[in-house]
Amino acid sequence: MTREEALGSIRANVKNNNLVKHMLAAEAIMRALARRLGEDEEEEWGLTGLLHDVDMELTGGDMSEHSKLGADIARELGAGEAVAHAIISHNEAHGIPLETALDKALFCADPLTGLITTAALVRPDKKLAGLEAKSVMKKFKQKGFAAAVSREQVSRCSEIGLELDEFVELGLTAMKEIAADMGL
Ligand SMILES: [Fe+2]
Repeated sequence: MTREEALGSIRANVKNNNLVKHMLAAEAIMRALARRLGEDEEEEWGLTGLLHDVDMELTGGDMSEHSKLGADIARELGAGEAVAHAIISHNEAHGIPLETALDKALFCADPLTGLITTAALVRPDKKLAGLEAKSVMKKFKQKGFAAAVSREQVSRCSEIGLELDEFVELGLTAMKEIAADMGL
C-alpha cells in the first residue's frame, strides 16, 4: 500500500475534516517515533497512524465495532498483520492486549494529538509554531484541560522507552512539521 492509496481510502470513508487532521497528526507522530526507535517509518508506522481511525464514520462511532473494520480496511489495502493488529488493539473496547512496539506507539500517540491540538487552539494566534513543549507539559498536568485526553494513555509512552517530556517534545515537533496541513 502506498500513502496515496491510504489517503484515497480516507477521502472515500471520512467526511469530517477534523478527523482527517487527527489521522495526519497521528501519522506524523508515528513516523517521528519510528525514526527515534529505528523502526519502519514508511511502510508500517506512518501508515498505521494515518489509517487508524479510517472506520470511525463507517462504524458510526460504535466502539464495539470501531477498529475491527479499520483493521479489515487496512488489510484490504495490503497492510500486513502488524499494522492490522496495531489498529484493532488501539481500541481498548476489544480487550486485545498491546503486544508490539507498533501497538504501544499508536496507543499513546493517538491521544497526544488531541492534547497538542487543543493547546495550540487556546493560544491567541491559534498556531502550533509558537507553542512550546513545556507549555504542553503544563497543560498535561491540568486535569481540566482537554479533559477527554487520557493522561494515563499518553503516559504509556514509557512502554516504548520514552520519558513523557521527550514524547511530548517529539510529538509537538512532528506536528509542527505538518502545521499547514493541520490548519494550525
Ligand atoms: Fe485516533
